[in-house]
Amino acid sequence: MVIFIHEVYYLIFMAHRFEGDFNKLDNKRRREILPPENILREIGVKQGDFLIDFGCGIGYFTIPALDFVGDDGRVIAIDTSERMLDELKKRAGVKTNLEIIKSDKIIDVKADYILLVNVLHEVESPKEFLLVCFEHLRENGKVVVIDWQKKKTDMGPPVNHRISKEEVVDMAKKQYIENDINENFYFIEFIA
Ligand SMILES: C[S@@+](CC[C@H](N)C(=O)[O-])C[C@H]1O[C@@H](n2cnc3c(N)ncnc32)[C@H](O)[C@@H]1O
Repeated sequence: MVIFIHEVYYLIFMAHRFEGDFNKLDNKRRREILPPENILREIGVKQGDFLIDFGCGIGYFTIPALDFVGDDGRVIAIDTSERMLDELKKRAGVKTNLEIIKSDKIIDVKADYILLVNVLHEVESPKEFLLVCFEHLRENGKVVVIDWQKKKTDMGPPVNHRISKEEVVDMAKKQYIENDINENFYFIEFIA
C-alpha cells in the first residue's frame, strides 16, 4: 500500500469533519436542545432577508430558514459534501429562494446572516475563515456561531477537535451577543 505525504498530513493535522449518518443531524433530541426555528427567531431573521448557511449539512437550519426569509428573501446553502447536499435537495424540494452550492468558501456576496452551526471547528483555518465571513456581511448583518462546548458531552466530536467560545471570541475581536442554549452548545452573534 502506498501512502502519500499529503494523506499523512491530512490524517495528523486536519480538522475533524462530520461524515456521519443523517440521523445525527436531525433527530428528536437535537430538535429539543437545538430547535432551529427558535434560534432563527432569536437572531431576528425576517421576510426579505438574505442568509447564508455555511456547512449546511442536510439543511437542518436551511429548510426552516426558507420560511423565515420568505419568497422575497434568499438562502444560500454551502457545503463540501455532495452526500449532504443531495440529501438537502431531497428534503427541501424545489424552492425559488434557495441556492445550493458545493464549496468550501463563502461566495462573493454580502448577506444579512451567515450561519456557522457546528462547522467552525471543522474548518481548516477557523480564524481566517471567520474574518472572511465578516467581509461578507451587509450593514447590521450578523455572523452566528453555534458550536460544541469544549468539554466532554454525551455526543459530538472529540473534545480536542472543538473550539471553545473564548477562542472564537478572541479570533473575532468583535462586538458580540452571547445567547444561552444549554450545556452542549454555545451560541454567539457577531455584529457587522
Ligand atoms: C456537523 S455538520 C453540521 C451541519 C449543519 N450546520 C447542522 O447544524 O445540521 C458539519 C457540516 O459542515 C460541512 N463542512 C465541514 N467543513 C467544511 C468546509 N470547509 N466548507 C464547507 N462545508 C464544510 C460538512 O460537510 C458537514 O456537512
